[in-house]
Formats: sequence, C-alpha cells, structure tokens
Amino acid sequence: MAQGRVAIVTGGTRGIGRAISTMLQDAGYKVAAIYHGNEDAARSLSEETGISCYKFDVSDFSECETAVAAIVEDLGPIEILVNNAGITRDSTLHKMTPEDWRSVIETDLGSCFNMCRVVINSMRERGFGRIVNIGSINGQAGQYGQVNYAAAKSGIHGFTKALAQEGAGKGITVNAIAPGYVDTDMVRSVPEPVLQKIIARIPVGRLGKAEDIARGVLFMVADEADFLTGSTLSINGGQHMY
Ligand code: CAA
Repeated sequence: MAQGRVAIVTGGTRGIGRAISTMLQDAGYKVAAIYHGNEDAARSLSEETGISCYKFDVSDFSECETAVAAIVEDLGPIEILVNNAGITRDSTLHKMTPEDWRSVIETDLGSCFNMCRVVINSMRERGFGRIVNIGSINGQAGQYGQVNYAAAKSGIHGFTKALAQEGAGKGITVNAIAPGYVDTDMVRSVPEPVLQKIIARIPVGRLGKAEDIARGVLFMVADEADFLTGSTLSINGGQHMY
C-alpha cells in the first residue's frame, strides 16, 4: 500500500538521496525531498520528476518543526522518513577545528533527532511509521581523517536500535543502512590517490551506485516489512563484512 504514503527524504535532491527520492516516487509514494544549499539540483529534480522540494536546515530543530508542518499541510501526514542528509569535514584530529566537529555532529546525527522528534508523535498516533537512517561503513569501521563523521555515523547506528525499541509496539520500524563508498559528489571529493587506494580494497571492484542504496531503502519502508526493525543493512561491495 505504498500508494499515497508520504515520505520525507533529507538530502533528497542529490547523490544517494536523489536516487531514494525517485525510487520511492516510482513505487507510488508521495515524496518531499529536502535540501539546504544546491538550488540547481533541487530545480532539476522537481522539473524532471515533479517531486516537491523543500529548503531548510535539518540541523536546526525549529526549522524542522516549521518546515515539516508545511509539508504535512501540502502532502499529508508523514509516514516514512529517510534521514539521509550528511556532510563531511575530513581532517586528522590534530588539525580538526571545533567547528569541523560541531557541524558534522549536528548535521549528520543531530538531524536524525530533529526530524524523528518532529514526526514521531504523528506516527505513534497513526500506529504506522517507517524510519530509515543512512549511516556509513565509516561509522562501523572508522576511517582515517574522519573522527567527526565516524562518531556521527556510529551514533546513528545506536540511535536506530534505541528508537526501534520504542517504536516496536506502535507499528513504527526504525532501520539503518550503512553504505560503502558510493559514486557521489561526496566521495568524488576524496583526493584521487586516496580514493584509488580505497577502491582497490572493495572486493566487488567498483564504487557503489546511488541506486544500490535506494533499493535497500525501498525494501525497508514496505508495508510488509513490519518484522524488520533495529537492523543495519551494509551495502558496501564487500569492503567491510560486519
Ligand atoms: N591510513 C593510514 N595512513 C594514512 C591514511 C590511511 N587511511 N590516509 C592517509 N594516511 C597518511 C598518509 O600516507 C600520509 O603519511 P605520510 O606523510 O607518512 O606519507 C599522512 O597520513 C598524511 O596524509 P595526507 O597527505 O592525505 O594528509 P592531509 O592532511 O592532506 O589529508 C585527509 C588527510 C583529509 C584525511 C585525507 O587523507 C583524506 O581526505 N582522506 C580520505 C578520508 C575519507 O575516506 N573520507 C571519506 C569521504 S566519503 C564518505 O565519508 C562517505 C561514506 O560514508 C563512505
């Protein structure tokens, strides 16, 4: 019964998020794609697909409250939430600024609290909800130059298991996906020699495609997936078997 269910996808206009937004729409969901900076990407997504795009800062609780109220007004109650928005500010700890730390924790992990907190009461009242949080292989295994990102993504995996326990009696499932290195702007910004070394360690022999991750989300948000909760699905080409 995907038809008509309203899904929010944060970071939903580019990269992995764009693939999730379009795959959910193709499956019959009504999608609100959230973005923060890139107007061109949002415009091209809405022109090409008709998906509604909303601009706000997911690291700011009051912006989330106001914007989600507007989405509910436009599309209806939120039954699916995909927390995908994330940034990197890579550097070794001895060079990392407090701002590099704070911005990654607040955007990547704080946004999960903000968005879940804003939609959870309505999901509880309706007795139905599907939440998927996008973690990372680097939250599972760590990564040189990413103490901020690894901490945030690792936090997402704990957050997911805790909220899954709270939602289980209310028809709300909460799961995570831990993508490996996927061919997106974020991964392409890793210095080329470093990236080549990383690709050499992926048994499947290539970067992931955004659609590889979106397919996992589609599986997790299905009405029939009501026994799947508190789970983390690793989609990483065999790079980290966990
Ligand atoms: N393990 C061990 N040593 C490493 C290393 C690694 N993975 N990477 C670099 N080093 C070493 C280098 O060999 C070098 O040592 P020498 O000077 O002895 O040769 C030293 O560390 C300094 O390396 P850099 O010159 O790269 O240092 P830098 O300060 O210029 O840059 C960095 C450091 C910013 C962390 C850079 O290495 C980098 O960007 N690394 C990539 C980090 C990464 O994988 N980010 C993932 C982004 S994508 C993503 O996060 C999505 C997702 O979920 C998967």
